[in-house]
Amino acid sequence: MRHFLTLKDFTATELKQLINRAIELKHIQKSGEIYQPLKNKVLAMIFDKSSTRTRVSFESAMIQFGGGAIFLSPNDTQLGRGEPVEDSARVISSMVDAVMIRTFEHAMVERFAEYSSVPVINALTDDYHPCQLLADMQTYVEHRGSIEGKTVAWIGDGNNMCHSYINAAEQFGFNLNIATPVGYEPKADIVSASTADISLCHDMKTAVKNTDLIVTDVWASMGQEEEQKKREHAFADFQVDNDVMTLANSDALFMHCLPAHRGEEVSADVIDGGQSVVWDEAENRLHAQKALLEFLCVSD
Ligand code: CP
Ligand code: NVA
Repeated sequence: MRHFLTLKDFTATELKQLINRAIELKHIQKSGEIYQPLKNKVLAMIFDKSSTRTRVSFESAMIQFGGGAIFLSPNDTQLGRGEPVEDSARVISSMVDAVMIRTFEHAMVERFAEYSSVPVINALTDDYHPCQLLADMQTYVEHRGSIEGKTVAWIGDGNNMCHSYINAAEQFGFNLNIATPVGYEPKADIVSASTADISLCHDMKTAVKNTDLIVTDVWASMGQEEEQKKREHAFADFQVDNDVMTLANSDALFMHCLPAHRGEEVSADVIDGGQSVVWDEAENRLHAQKALLEFLCVSD
């Protein structure tokens, strides 16, 4: 049994195969072919934070695959009233075929996985968002081919998305330039654990020069709402606008995991412009997670 808590839970080869499979599954879906490898299977979806894309993509994936999904919010479960994670993991996993969790502390998904009898998928923690990276990598491959040897610029907060880009740089073999305000760098242990070519700086313009993909994210993530004002001040020089895009390679793409704040981390003309692939990126959550569910839940 395998879990998907970070990109490092899979080998580079497995991840590449998963991206290729996601592209195939997208074609199958678009052709109208019915493909139901998860008939009668159930995915439990534990959401301690809000979601649009993650919930809709996982739930649709399970329905289209012939199974079903159960949405569990802390308002309605005993987990939300303090039932231990270990007990919840044993009970929930005894009734379903896989569990997807979106929560705060990364240690919670690790603890759940330890006591779960079925695969556990990390659908975002304070530290990582690996499912989003599957969709991002699929999107890059579809538009530009292999990302190996390319250079990606991460602009903004050294947050969960940034940490998953650090993991992806190693697994998919791209170079990563990270530009953050002082004090908002990615966690040092995650950077130092990576064998990828990663450079950190505090100047967005230096980071984007000659890059193939520019990625940003909100300045205040879920759980940091009370820091919004302070962060608006700290991140004022970190908006990806057209001037920034012109410093990158002429065929560079723009990605954002969404939800986005136009006028903060990205200008409207960039996110709604010709280099932006954010809508494909969002749709690919469905196809990439189908490949992931198939990998984890279908035995050969
Ligand atoms: N990108 C992403 O995970 O979106 P949601 O928060 O809407 O799920
Ligand atoms: N960094 C953001 C990503 C949202 C999908 C957050 O954690 O809120």
